[in-house]
Amino acid sequence: MKKLSGNPHLIKKDGTLLIDGIEASEIVNKNQTPFMIFFANRVKNNINSFYRAFQSVFDNFQCFYSFKANFLPDICRIVQSEGVGAELIGLPELKLALKLQFPSEKIIVGGPYLPQELIEKCILENIKEIVVYNLNHVILIDSIAKKYNKVQDICLRVNTQKFGSKLGIDLDVLELTLLKKIQDENKNVKITTILSHYSTQMNNFEQFKQNLRNVLEKIKILLKAGVRIENINLGGGFPEATIMPEHQLIEIAKGIKLILSNFDIKFKNIYFEPGRYLVGDAGIFIAKVIKVYKDRWIFLNIGNHICPKFAKASLRFYNITRINDPHKYKTSIAGIIPTDQDVLAKNYFFTKELEEGDLVMITNVGAYCLTFSNRFPYLLPEISLIEDGNITQIFDPLVHHDFSLN
Ligand SMILES: Cc1ncc(COP(=O)(O)O)c(C=O)c1O
Repeated sequence: MKKLSGNPHLIKKDGTLLIDGIEASEIVNKNQTPFMIFFANRVKNNINSFYRAFQSVFDNFQCFYSFKANFLPDICRIVQSEGVGAELIGLPELKLALKLQFPSEKIIVGGPYLPQELIEKCILENIKEIVVYNLNHVILIDSIAKKYNKVQDICLRVNTQKFGSKLGIDLDVLELTLLKKIQDENKNVKITTILSHYSTQMNNFEQFKQNLRNVLEKIKILLKAGVRIENINLGGGFPEATIMPEHQLIEIAKGIKLILSNFDIKFKNIYFEPGRYLVGDAGIFIAKVIKVYKDRWIFLNIGNHICPKFAKASLRFYNITRINDPHKYKTSIAGIIPTDQDVLAKNYFFTKELEEGDLVMITNVGAYCLTFSNRFPYLLPEISLIEDGNITQIFDPLVHHDFSLN
């Protein structure tokens, strides 16, 4: 038995590929390529690993799934069923989270764009925290909260100070003056939390450390200005779970704890907002080779419009028609957008034989692929979910047309 892509849901046994326990041939015979499959139990296992790792180190840990990683209702439903909170950036996600019965005290909402309607809904629904990237939004939130006679908890998203980063509050002199004024005058908001989300696919502790250092520095600056922070939120940025096993998560948690224990200010809670870690390796694409070109280039019937580079996924490719052949011959893989820019991989180790009609499995596409997918006039792929041995189609492009939220 061999795990493919380090994924326990993709097993090669006696020369046969099993996709979540089901023979691949059975699945591919039923579906037209390209199609996508999600493994419900992988999402659950990833959640469990994440919780085990952080709860083994922190007794004040809270977790909010970043919906933007994958906002398919069936995926978010699984996350909800495991008791994870939600981190959301807009009204469509908020409506979905409430429909799926995420409790309001486990929902954090915010981002660079906070329309009035979103703020109203957050306040009316008693959302745990609104995350602001711009201090003027705090004043707007205060005025709306006042109208409803409520006090809204606020999380300040601070700039990571990474070169060129423009997101979040810098806490420069002007902003600190405004913050003090807000503290004194705006009684319908309470600044409780600070958030710094550093990067994506962070696979060494140094990046987590930089992020934490940034948060701690900002907390000191805030304290000097008279703003006392209760909770720290270190965002997401973890790679796919197959890339970062649980023992590495524990090491990261311990490293963070050590730095925090040497810091003289104590906090109520520490939050994380993983997206990719929970769902990234829970999704695969099956596509087909539609053309074998010279110099070992192949074209698949999927491209960057649905499996985009922007997703920054750790893509792995397998020729499942020749799954027992060695994958050690450099091959370049292009997509079907009619531009030479549509390249999925260059010089990727693949099978020697390449034939039109070969089926190709692409792993680690569960996070951000659908989010960043863009409009191109091809049919969207069918999407299925395997849950405890049962395959259910959760998206049919001919029936549902689009998976956007509204
Ligand atoms: C503020 C914030 N939190 C969490 C996430 C989730 O990140 P990831 O999927 O890398 O864990 C993001 C992603 O961009 C983010 O911007």
